[in-house]
Parts: sequence; C-alpha cells; structure tokens
Amino acid sequence: MKLNVNGTEHEVAAPPDMPLLWVLRDLMQLTGTKFGCGIAQCGACTVHVDGSPRRACVTPVASVEGKQITTIEGLSKDGSHPVQRAWAEIDVVQCGYCQSGQIMSAAALLTKIPAPTDTDIDQALSGNICRCGTYPRIRAAVKRAAEIGKA
Ligand code: FES
Ligand code: FES
Repeated sequence: MKLNVNGTEHEVAAPPDMPLLWVLRDLMQLTGTKFGCGIAQCGACTVHVDGSPRRACVTPVASVEGKQITTIEGLSKDGSHPVQRAWAEIDVVQCGYCQSGQIMSAAALLTKIPAPTDTDIDQALSGNICRCGTYPRIRAAVKRAAEIGKA
C-alpha cells in the first residue's frame, strides 16, 4: 500500500491490520516514534495524521492510507520547529523515552490553540505519560514554544 509519511509517498508491504507504529519503526526505520504500552495508554507512539495527534500503536495502517502522516522526524528538517526549539531551551528531557510523543502532542495543540492556557496544555497532554515527571518543564516549554511561534 502507499503511505504518505513526512511529505513523501512510500510503498510499504504490510498487512492492512498491522499497527502504524510497527510499519514506521520496523518497515521504514523511523524509530523516533516509541513503543511504550501498545494499548493507547502512554502516548509514546504519538504521530500526526492529517495534523491531529494519533496513537500509532492502535492505528491499523490501512486506516491511514491516503492521509498525511507526520512523525517526529518530519516535524522539521533541522530541529527548528518552535516546539523543538523550546524543548531544547528549557532542557525538558530526562531519559527521553516519552518525549517525541510529548512533542508531537504539543505541536498539534499549538496548531489548534496558538496561545494555550495551563488547562489547555494539561488536557491536550494528559494522555502522554512521563515516568521521569518532566511535566512542569513540558508545560513551560509549550508556553515558550507559543512565544517562539508568535515571533
Ligand atoms: S505505545 Fe501507543 S499509547 Fe503507549
Ligand atoms: S523523560 Fe523519561 S519518560 Fe519522560
């Protein structure tokens, strides 16, 4: 089947019910998207489908054929997306495992709500679990990304 990932059409040989996460990681070697729980509970596998956050671990690949899929690798070519810049500036990351999912959820939020409140941030990122407890820095970085995006 044909998949549009990070702006490029790819031909992939995958069964229709294979989770998108498996296709990205195992067939396309896009390993920035992480496997955490596999049951839509942790957010580590978050990607964008037509601009909205989606848990790739429970998304059958056939359901996203013809849609625009964006992974952390496609957010920017050089780490210059406002969310990536804010993350680096605030030094959000601890072990890093959850962070591509956090960044993808944050980027989708800022597309919808350019100046989010604490409540907006907490709601949008509530499904992204961080076992290192980086939540206060995540919240600060989303606000910083909103400022960078305005500049
Ligand atoms: S791996 Fe998909 S939500 Fe946890
Ligand atoms: S930084 Fe370690 S799980 Fe979030």
